[in-house]
Amino acid sequence: MKNKVAFVTGGSQGIGAAVAKSLVDKGLKVAITGRDQAKLDAIQKTLDPQLQLPILCIRADVRNYQELAAAVALVHEKFGTIDTVVANAGVGHFVAIDEMSHEQWNETIDTNLTGVFNTIKACLADLKESRGYFITMASLAGTNFFEKASAYNASKFGLVGFTQAVMLDLRKYGIKVTTIMPGSVSTHFNNNIPSDQDAWKIQPEDLGQMVVDLLSMPERTLPSKIEVRPSFPGK
Ligand SMILES: NC(=O)c1ccc[n+]([C@@H]2O[C@H](COP(=O)([O-])OP(=O)(O)OC[C@H]3O[C@@H](n4cnc5c(N)ncnc54)[C@H](OP(=O)(O)O)[C@@H]3O)[C@@H](O)[C@H]2O)c1
Repeated sequence: MKNKVAFVTGGSQGIGAAVAKSLVDKGLKVAITGRDQAKLDAIQKTLDPQLQLPILCIRADVRNYQELAAAVALVHEKFGTIDTVVANAGVGHFVAIDEMSHEQWNETIDTNLTGVFNTIKACLADLKESRGYFITMASLAGTNFFEKASAYNASKFGLVGFTQAVMLDLRKYGIKVTTIMPGSVSTHFNNNIPSDQDAWKIQPEDLGQMVVDLLSMPERTLPSKIEVRPSFPGK
């Protein structure tokens, strides 16, 4: 894995930041994106206090194809061909359908679904060249439906189907594609404040380990869809 190049969307906190850290620890050159420059600056300091490691933190919104393509071009220029892409950026609005606004619907679909389409389109030339790996961060909400989760369910059911179809399209180029479907993870997602109460949940670094484990699989074998849940549900 050493000196390979990874691109992680939504890497400024939570699962994406933990995935980035796991990959940095394995010696990869890692680029992360997010919308908020202050959060990007903070994670850069956390991942690399001495500013010595090959880490790029780039402001780019996955909903905007031009921004994303510019970010990918910068990574290619600074680090070389991208080997691993983790399409992780996501949002959730959890209200009943009678209260859900068009803005909430659009933000959810544009980020969680179209954002992943934008990500693979921007990275595909690199992944074909590297015979690389494309991983999407879906959710158990991509197979189980919940009250007040219509937009989130629609985006994640869509993402699971999208990723599996993309897997069939890209396997023939030697590109591996996996969707990870976590249950509850202890992050700031949906305004959660991680605390001791969240100890029963999956921890973000567990998903960082999962990405490293996927990259370590024998070339012949592809776990294409992974459901992952807390071993001991806390509620
Ligand atoms: N936490 C859970 O229980 C859980 C469970 C299953 C699946 N997931 C999925 O895991 C992924 C990561 O979630 P998380 O828990 O780590 O959430 P989080 O702590 O809220 O982090 C989300 C990350 O995505 C970035 N982001 C959001 N919208 C973006 C956009 N339009 N363009 C670029 N970056 C964007 C955020 O940075 P900015 O705000 O600065 O843009 C942040 O870095 C999401 O796809 C989520 O649906 C989470």
